[in-house]
Amino acid sequence: MTRPEELEKRLNMLVKFGGLISTETNLTKLLEVIADQVKLMLNGDRCSVFIVDRQTNELWSKIAQGMQQTEIRVPFGKGIAGLVASTGRAINITDAYGDTRFNHDLDMMTGYHTRTILAVPLKNVGGHIIGVFEVMNKDQGSFGPEDEGILQLMGSLAASAIENAQLYESLSKSQLETIYRLAVTAEYRDQHDTAIHLRHISEYSALIALGMGLPEREVENIRYASPLHDIGKVGIADAILLKPGKLTPDEFEEMKKHTLYGAKILSGAESSLLQIACKVAASHHEKFNGEGYPSRLKGEQIPIHARIVSVADVFDALCMQRVYKPKWDPEKARDYILEEKGKAFDPAVVEAFERTYADITKIYAITDGKTTIIPGITKELHKYNF
Ligand code: C2E
Ligand code: SIN
Ligand code: SIN
Ligand code: FE
Repeated sequence: MTRPEELEKRLNMLVKFGGLISTETNLTKLLEVIADQVKLMLNGDRCSVFIVDRQTNELWSKIAQGMQQTEIRVPFGKGIAGLVASTGRAINITDAYGDTRFNHDLDMMTGYHTRTILAVPLKNVGGHIIGVFEVMNKDQGSFGPEDEGILQLMGSLAASAIENAQLYESLSKSQLETIYRLAVTAEYRDQHDTAIHLRHISEYSALIALGMGLPEREVENIRYASPLHDIGKVGIADAILLKPGKLTPDEFEEMKKHTLYGAKILSGAESSLLQIACKVAASHHEKFNGEGYPSRLKGEQIPIHARIVSVADVFDALCMQRVYKPKWDPEKARDYILEEKGKAFDPAVVEAFERTYADITKIYAITDGKTTIIPGITKELHKYNF
């Protein structure tokens, strides 16, 4: 190709790129589209988009590991991406393994072999750095100054699309707040200490997820999605929900429908958080051995988020007073959870529950009104002002 042809081709690709990314509001999908386009444009073999997390002073990125996506995080100032974010300057590396700034860890994780890297900052219209582009292994030789210019251009287009998608994500957080209020209303009928119960479920579930080693993002997802697990109780009549004694078999059949109602209320949501909440509402009464409801799912057929919330929910239901039962001591509730390992509950979730049990009782104690201040945890809890 002659030079003008090459330039024209790139210009066309840039225009197409701008159009493609301006309509995508789902952040995960957007980042995938951007990475694909960058690879194509620069004849690179791989592209990573790192996004700044101001709260932790880190950059995060999704990388593919086999069939799964893993989130990786690097501190500002560390590795190539961290350096570009902290200095705001592009870095062009022609021999990665000969460069002390290059961090091999990611290659080790993915089995990839990085040779050349071009990394540029992603700046928004205000000039603030919101992320970093890294493109790796140019098909021939290494990346040149022209590549750098193009990548900067793509970066400025991408930055505004990314900010837009982040705004959408925060919008769905405010929608989520509305739904929390609905959850409180739903639960208020059978438990007047609803706010406490919802905090418990949220914190216990997050702790167990942490104990299982789930990535931070999943821990946060489960933290916010779990309080919605019983939202379907809005559809259950008072005569059943508030019955002071044991339910008849027919009444219990009706009660079981709260899982289906919940799933229906939360279905079709665009936000990934509500999609998770939907699975949790649908499946939090499934049992690991296949004897739960509504669908008698078994083992890994039950979404992991639901397997976690199920333990948190039963532990807390046992520890709280209900119209139909007195409250149990946490120790007795814990024994019950352990007894049900492999029956109602996923053994791996029960093990994580055991590992985090000390923290779980701390959460229980503060919100039980027995203790008022536990440094660190109370700070965490203040995030949940439903
Ligand atoms: P919930 O009160 O939030 O209880 C959630 C889950 O905790 C229960 O799911 C059960 O797995 C566990 N759980 C609660 N209390 C006990 C208990 O005393 N012993 C044992 N072994 N497990 C307990 P489950 O059974 O599917 O019930 C779902 C919902 O149905 C309950 O939510 C509650 O709202 C209602 N429910 C269940 N049984 C009765 C009852 O006898 N009377 C009334 N009024 N409601 C009931
Ligand atoms: C962020 O939006 O800055 C954090 C997202 C994440 O934890 O992956
Ligand atoms: C880094 O050093 O920024 C991470 C390594 C890589 O992107 O390949
Ligand atoms: Fe439930």
